[in-house]
Amino acid sequence: MSARIYNFSAGPATLPIEVLKQAGKDIVDFQQMGMSLIEMSHRSKEFIAIAEETENNLQYLLDIPESYKVLFLQGGASSQFFMIPMNLLGGQKKATYLNTGTWATKAIKEARNFGDIEVPFSGEKINFNRVPQDMEYEISSDSHYLYFVSNNTIYGTQFGKFPEREKMLVCDMSSDILSRPIDINKFGLIFAGAQKNLGPAGVTIVIIREDLLGQAPENTPTMLNYKTHADKNSMLNTPPCFAIYTVGEVLKWAIKQGGVKVLQERNIEKANLLYSAIDTTDYYRGHAEKNSRSLMNISFNLPTAELEAHFVEEASLIGLSGLKGHRSIGGCRASIYNAFPKKGVVSLVQFMEKFERENPVIK
Ligand SMILES: Cc1ncc(COP(=O)(O)O)c(C=O)c1O
Repeated sequence: MSARIYNFSAGPATLPIEVLKQAGKDIVDFQQMGMSLIEMSHRSKEFIAIAEETENNLQYLLDIPESYKVLFLQGGASSQFFMIPMNLLGGQKKATYLNTGTWATKAIKEARNFGDIEVPFSGEKINFNRVPQDMEYEISSDSHYLYFVSNNTIYGTQFGKFPEREKMLVCDMSSDILSRPIDINKFGLIFAGAQKNLGPAGVTIVIIREDLLGQAPENTPTMLNYKTHADKNSMLNTPPCFAIYTVGEVLKWAIKQGGVKVLQERNIEKANLLYSAIDTTDYYRGHAEKNSRSLMNISFNLPTAELEAHFVEEASLIGLSGLKGHRSIGGCRASIYNAFPKKGVVSLVQFMEKFERENPVIK
């Protein structure tokens, strides 16, 4: 096997090597059954056991109360942008959305097809470089829920503290689920595409409070109704078997590491290394305001776009890959999710220091 590089990609993102090795074996011969994991029926007792174990491990890791249902859905996290208002705005027509970046903007656009959406905070004019403080925005009393994106993958901002308002929270945790403990009770619904902290692309996890099931209008298509998926334990149709299996392996890995609290400590340590490197020089400038900084995605700029392009290219030559910022904001971005090793962050910091020395700005 070729040497493993440090993959800073924002998603699909680096996964634990132990998980990849196990998946490699199971994809050829699962538990010595003489067939691959991706060849077996989703109704087989073996696959049902995988799905149940995956759900139980997620419940354990995130301390999900009994009154919530975990769903494994398809259509990407983006399908939740319309499924949420479609299912939850039934009788109550208003909802509140915080616009903290591209993914929130897309969710707002979709939600407007289903209800009256108020947006009391938008970071558009400040290039989404921070998330709002609690008391910075008003919420209408007749709003059904408060929707926010806990970590803004592109801009590198994150809610360090979740909104504490008298409203049911609905949250897109696609890029920071499992990176820190959360109090699920504050949420009506949490969703996350798997391809960052949970596994490969192809499955979206939805954690929904049970009383919210069955609120969709009568004419909601079966496949878009949370209740029908919940009633069938996410086996309404053929589920994304391989993706669910891999999420299961990632969750077993997370348990072995010591759980979400340990992962959070590591994430803080890794992010601090990188932010310190950015803060000790004017050469690198972080995109996010300090009190909104993400522990998962660190977006930064160099003095010029040319230097940024050169930086990304040189870094990839020494095995630091995927550092180009998202096309919508440019610059550089280091995504350092749960499975990203500290050693890789140390290598990046060393490279940043060397690059600055070797490429001074000519004034
Ligand atoms: C926070 C967030 N939400 C939603 C999405 C969209 O996910 P998907 O491509 O699974 O639809 C992404 C993708 O990166 C994301 O980072």
